[in-house]
Amino acid sequence: MNKSTNTVWHNATVTRSRREAQNNHKSVILWFTGLSGSGKSTLAHAVEEQLFQKTCKTYVLDGDNVRHGLCGDLGFSDIDRKENIRRIGEIAKLMLESGVITLTAFISPFASERRIARKLVPHGEFLEIYCDSSVEICEQRDIKGLYKKAREGEIKDFTGISSPYEIPQNPELIVNTGTGSIEECVEQVMELLESRNIFNLNNTVES
Ligand code: ADX
Repeated sequence: MNKSTNTVWHNATVTRSRREAQNNHKSVILWFTGLSGSGKSTLAHAVEEQLFQKTCKTYVLDGDNVRHGLCGDLGFSDIDRKENIRRIGEIAKLMLESGVITLTAFISPFASERRIARKLVPHGEFLEIYCDSSVEICEQRDIKGLYKKAREGEIKDFTGISSPYEIPQNPELIVNTGTGSIEECVEQVMELLESRNIFNLNNTVES
């Protein structure tokens, strides 16, 4: 429940569309979802690198990093994961307003919370990208050694082992981060952005 009463919204003169015109690209949320170790952060950062080289304004919100600060008070129960994604959805919305191409890399295991985050922003500005890599492949890689700990019961509520992951039913894009190459996946994301006319706004947005 919202406890903030007696607050008044202040409208900015530097609007989102003016920022976008100055940036010469639209802002959008790229919401990467998938299991731990599926390659979400790696892909988000590789896409960011490409965008940066095109002089786009970008930022990656990464699960492990955000949990060191803003969401450091949250664990991995269903309730805490929901609150984690609620906060990230709200931050991504603010960043969208700031004209930045925002890439989020969170497991975000529940379809309901992904839907809530999607609905915070206008239609077409939340692009859900499913990083498709099976539990078997993620566990085989086990880059952080967490799957081993989860199997040994050292970590509770581990996604894919002892906590659910709901596969997106209707994402804007599915990338094969399990067996595909990172270059192919980056290419697919860049094509998605091209198809949504994110770049080269000159003359199409009021300044
Ligand atoms: S989410 O479920 O709330 O979206 P988030 O993406 O923020 O998760 O954090 C996932 C990261 O936390 C994993 O990549 C892993 O490094 C770490 N982690 C620690 N404990 C768990 C756990 N029980 N389940 C999943 N990931 C965990």
